[in-house]
Amino acid sequence: MRPFQTNFAFLAGTLPFMRMLGYHRKLMAENGITTVAVLGAGTMGNGIAHVFARAGYDVILRDIERRFLDRALETISKNLAREIKKGKIGEPEKTAALARLRPVTDIQALSAADFAIEAVPEQLELKLRVLQEADAVLRPGVVLASNTSSISITQLAAQTGRAENFIGMHFMNPVPVMALVEVIRGLATSDATFTTTMSLCEKLQKKAVAVNDAPGFVSNRVLLPMINEAAFAVMEGVAAPEAVDAVMKTGMNHPMGPLELADFIGLDVCVDILDVLYKGFGDSKYRACPLLRKYVAAGWLGKKSGRGFYKYSGC
Ligand SMILES: NC(=O)c1ccc[n+]([C@@H]2O[C@H](COP(=O)([O-])OP(=O)(O)OC[C@H]3O[C@@H](n4cnc5c(N)ncnc54)[C@H](O)[C@@H]3O)[C@@H](O)[C@H]2O)c1
Repeated sequence: MRPFQTNFAFLAGTLPFMRMLGYHRKLMAENGITTVAVLGAGTMGNGIAHVFARAGYDVILRDIERRFLDRALETISKNLAREIKKGKIGEPEKTAALARLRPVTDIQALSAADFAIEAVPEQLELKLRVLQEADAVLRPGVVLASNTSSISITQLAAQTGRAENFIGMHFMNPVPVMALVEVIRGLATSDATFTTTMSLCEKLQKKAVAVNDAPGFVSNRVLLPMINEAAFAVMEGVAAPEAVDAVMKTGMNHPMGPLELADFIGLDVCVDILDVLYKGFGDSKYRACPLLRKYVAAGWLGKKSGRGFYKYSGC
């Protein structure tokens, strides 16, 4: 009786985990995607790798230097531990998710991927180079998605040899917490690519919203002018960052003030997006606030560098 009870207890304990694994394998088998490549292991790349690994996918995480990959793995481990504390996952899921991550610097590793997402900095030339490198290594027919915040998906797609298998998959920061993925079809994106991407979002338990291809899509076309205006208000001495954020949090019910959010996104990322909006629409209302540019020039990039509109300890 006793051994049976012990075995039963063991099985009962592992059943939800096994069921979860089986469930994900079944879902993944539906579209043949089991291995996902993520290019860039920064703020967004590590979050994207985290959610795919947690959902049962094998993840090839690629960056240019080992130290960026080490930093990303540390962040993912910390964020998974936070999810354990919140009761969202158990210790075995954390261990399994970490085991599914394969950090690489060699682009050739992408040949094993069934789906790939690019999350390198928001600079057109860099993105084009990275996307072309990935395109040359990925198997024909594999979907290549970009997490760009603002650059035209049609333009990026056109520089690859797989425009019909190219799509925008705009995750929000922090990826493990935020439910939204803006899914953007380029002019040549096929229905099959769109359907695969939408169903992948569902498997990650994300809310996918399909929008059309235009600079900044919806999220950043609406958000960035607000952040920029908040920076102008500080630059012109209308109010201190704390006061600007307090007005928006208390008066408009925003969970974060625009400057707090800008620090969180990265002030360099904000300037890059504003530059894309400015160029894309040819409208001066999108010109980046000089104070934002000055902070970026000083290396005050926000939370990730320890200083932006606010100072952060422990960064
Ligand atoms: N930060 C945000 O809140 C946010 C939100 C949504 C989307 N995005 C978008 O996601 C993308 C990435 O932004 P981020 O904030 O993660 O940037 P980041 O600077 O934090 O990370 C970028 C990473 O890409 C790596 N990289 C550079 N060149 C590379 C290459 N050739 N191959 C592989 N990796 C390379 C860098 O070493 C770095 O680790 C951008 O397009 C950005 O607009 C950012």
